[in-house]
Amino acid sequence: MKVCVVGLGYIGLPTALMMAAYDVCVTGVDYNKQLVSTLQQGKTTFEEDGLDALYTKAREKGVEFTTEYISADLYIIAVPTPYDKFSKKIDSSYVIGAVKNVTQVCPKGAVLVIESTVSPGTIDRYVRPAIEECGFTIGEDLHIAHAPERIIPGNMVYELENNSRVIGADDEEIGQKVKTVYSSFCKGDIVVTDIRTAEMSKVVENTFRDINIAYANELAKICRQDNMNVYEIIRIANMHPRVNILQPGPGVGGHCISVDPWFLVGDYPGLTSLIRHARLINDSMPEFVLGRVHDIMKERNIDDVSRVGLYGITYKEDVDDTRESPTLQLLEKVALHLGSPLKIYDPMVDRDVLPEQYHDFDEFLNSVDIVVIMVAHSQIRNSMNKLSGKIILDTRNICHLPGVYKL
Ligand SMILES: NC(=O)c1ccc[n+]([C@@H]2O[C@H](COP(=O)([O-])OP(=O)(O)OC[C@H]3O[C@@H](n4cnc5c(N)ncnc54)[C@H](O)[C@@H]3O)[C@@H](O)[C@H]2O)c1
Repeated sequence: MKVCVVGLGYIGLPTALMMAAYDVCVTGVDYNKQLVSTLQQGKTTFEEDGLDALYTKAREKGVEFTTEYISADLYIIAVPTPYDKFSKKIDSSYVIGAVKNVTQVCPKGAVLVIESTVSPGTIDRYVRPAIEECGFTIGEDLHIAHAPERIIPGNMVYELENNSRVIGADDEEIGQKVKTVYSSFCKGDIVVTDIRTAEMSKVVENTFRDINIAYANELAKICRQDNMNVYEIIRIANMHPRVNILQPGPGVGGHCISVDPWFLVGDYPGLTSLIRHARLINDSMPEFVLGRVHDIMKERNIDDVSRVGLYGITYKEDVDDTRESPTLQLLEKVALHLGSPLKIYDPMVDRDVLPEQYHDFDEFLNSVDIVVIMVAHSQIRNSMNKLSGKIILDTRNICHLPGVYKL
């Protein structure tokens, strides 16, 4: 069985490497020439625990990377699925582009697995017609399945092997065939179901988390108004056997939780007021943090905004992914309100993504009076002593120095 993984980003690359490490014959395809060239030189393209070791193993087993689509028995499509900021609906153009490319090279009877997260109905509405337009009869010339990914950046390698997963297919035989391929490395339960159920279950999972985080964020705002300790309140509430409130924070970023709920809002606008409001609450948090910074500056008689530094650009701890991050969202607001950029530092982000970005922690600290902890990277957890003497706003509840400000 030859497998071709299309799209070698945060999801496609670990998937391709994992399968190869477990003796599946894998070729990874990406149209980004620079990315493929880096991989061909034996280097990985992003920071992730265990990824380099996995790559070494996969290389020994003969994994290959190319920009050319190849003939294979099974294709795994792991390309981006953003949403349209205006309509809130899924932008399926990357998936359709990849699917059309596959139809130009695939042999009769090949299986096409969409791993990208898609809104329920996307495969019926967009993928099937795109395949049929290319002259294929689905179920005869080409089979389709959906196997959405659940892994979390920071623990991808472990979760790829151990998470349970869902496979949606048109018929049981194809579902079982795809399951056999994923079973080569996945020790978790694999449920085979229909495509629409698989699409919906993935979007529902991320929406659940978004709503739960929004609840915690709303509690943080209530508690701030009347000076209550939201963390202590959530800790006590969670001692109830049937309560599990997540933690408040500076906002929600990344490519999943801040995006997928919009798919439901876009497709079911009259039925999604809870989901929509949760999104809006989470999107309001960067501005709430900015309000906290403003209050602290006033209280401490600081009026020079360039003495404020944001620690962390990524959307979560110990990863290098900055997509949709609360820090970037906050900086957009700053540009609107203050015009003057704040100082920024992130130990996980070597590349220059922002104008006032520092690459040395000590230099960053020396240039600011107020440090806003936006991301709970291990680096700052392990160097709290360096923060003494600074005014700290800790949006992640990881700093317990005296006088620290919280959300
Ligand atoms: N990142 C996550 O944590 C995560 C978790 C679960 C699910 N997902 C889902 O997985 C999918 C992929 O996300 P990602 O984070 O890996 O995206 P990514 O942007 O990191 O990677 C996508 C890759 O696909 C390539 N690509 C796009 N169109 C192509 C085409 N037609 N042919 C070849 N290559 C093409 C791009 O060059 C890029 O390298 C999305 O649907 C996302 O929602 C992501």
